[in-house]
Amino acid sequence: MEKEEYIRFLQNFLNKDRVNKIVEEMSKEPTHCLRLNPLKKSSFLDVSSLKSHPYLNNAFYYKKDEYEAGKDPMHYAGAYYIQDASAMMVGYLLNVKKTDKVIDLCAAPGGKSTYIGPLLENGLLVSNDYSNSRCLDLIDNIERIGLTNTIILNDEVSNIAKELEGYFDKVVLDAPCSGEGMFRKNINVNEDWSIEKVNRLSTLQKTLILDAYKLLKKDGLLIYSTCTFNKLEDEDTVRYLLENTNATLVSLPYLDKCDRGIDMQEAIRIFPDKFDGEGHFICLIKCNDDNECKSFKFKQSNISPVNYKIYKEFENKTFNYQLDKTRLFEYNDVIYYLPVDCPDFKNLHIMRQGVMLGSIEKNIFKPSHNLASSFNDLFKNALSLRKESKEMSQYLHGDSFKVDMGDGYAQVLCEDVPLGLCKVTNQTLKNLYPKKLRKVGL
Ligand SMILES: C[S@@+](CC[C@H](N)C(=O)[O-])C[C@H]1O[C@@H](n2cnc3c(N)ncnc32)[C@H](O)[C@@H]1O
Repeated sequence: MEKEEYIRFLQNFLNKDRVNKIVEEMSKEPTHCLRLNPLKKSSFLDVSSLKSHPYLNNAFYYKKDEYEAGKDPMHYAGAYYIQDASAMMVGYLLNVKKTDKVIDLCAAPGGKSTYIGPLLENGLLVSNDYSNSRCLDLIDNIERIGLTNTIILNDEVSNIAKELEGYFDKVVLDAPCSGEGMFRKNINVNEDWSIEKVNRLSTLQKTLILDAYKLLKKDGLLIYSTCTFNKLEDEDTVRYLLENTNATLVSLPYLDKCDRGIDMQEAIRIFPDKFDGEGHFICLIKCNDDNECKSFKFKQSNISPVNYKIYKEFENKTFNYQLDKTRLFEYNDVIYYLPVDCPDFKNLHIMRQGVMLGSIEKNIFKPSHNLASSFNDLFKNALSLRKESKEMSQYLHGDSFKVDMGDGYAQVLCEDVPLGLCKVTNQTLKNLYPKKLRKVGL
């Protein structure tokens, strides 16, 4: 990217002083923030010395040279999610209700989904991403955070809009964008930037926002966000929606350290020189159209009597409490725990529905990592490892080691937070931490 070209481009939308401040920020160190996971509260995680996020009471800034939050075993166990402080404002401003049906259309790696999912007690979260490889990261993060009420899709937004029109109370469109707001965090985004890219993405965003809007029920809310400063990808995209539908803007609250949109008072712009976070644009839109909605049957439990008996024996022997039988669903001998009132979506590429509990192999139930990472206090046998212990490093590394406990499957905890699975035989731990998650060099 030519710096001068970028400055000239931004000056089309913002005054000189504002552009100078944005450019000045690009040479500075980014801030780092983590958000505690309400599903995996830990009494061993001390955040008392960390600076609080200005709006979220469960998010805190940390200094990377003082605390390597991304390498703390508590992170691997999902006690918190690392996310830019400005990006967290999307979940904060959407204000979801416990029973909402929410779809996050461009969800990977899961920053917004992992914010929203834990707030939906009897609601449903559908998380989609168009990229298959990024969907795999999304699955890992949703498993780590322990969401049980989520369907993960890997599909085109246009297909989803056809199938699920009018179904959702809330839609999140955190659109693919030129990423200006992330320049100081990710040098690759910086090198990749061009005016052609901005134009190409703004065309894509217009298509995506129309499809995103179709997914809403009447009076439902769409939150549109990007990490850019230019009007083409932000206010112009939103205006395109307003001109082509009966959508109206909902004014976001006036917040200290946040600016309003360009000729769009209802929207918010976050600039890194004012807010401790990266650049972001956020806009809330109300649906005033009666989008047609197909009716979906709820998915029914389809577990065969034979497989249920095998699973049930395992459950009785291993778990402290029973899972709801009506949510057990099998596909190719893999047993899933469906979200509550799971709709039977057709014609969409579903990557995951609820929790993958395990598989039936040669008439034996083999539990999965997802099962152990998603439920608190589930296993009768729990192996709590101190986060700084040698055994914790060995577990994360994939090693086997001696333990002082009885035979059988056990949930491995990082202090008090579910981390993964192991199997004990003759006081020797068989390590079932997934190979792709193992930490080398520990
Ligand atoms: C800004 S990132 C999303 C970040 C995510 N919301 C979070 O908070 O972690 C944009 C995402 O859009 C996805 N994407 C790109 N083109 C898309 C399309 N046509 N439909 C759906 N997703 C798309 C990318 O794979 C990328 O994961």
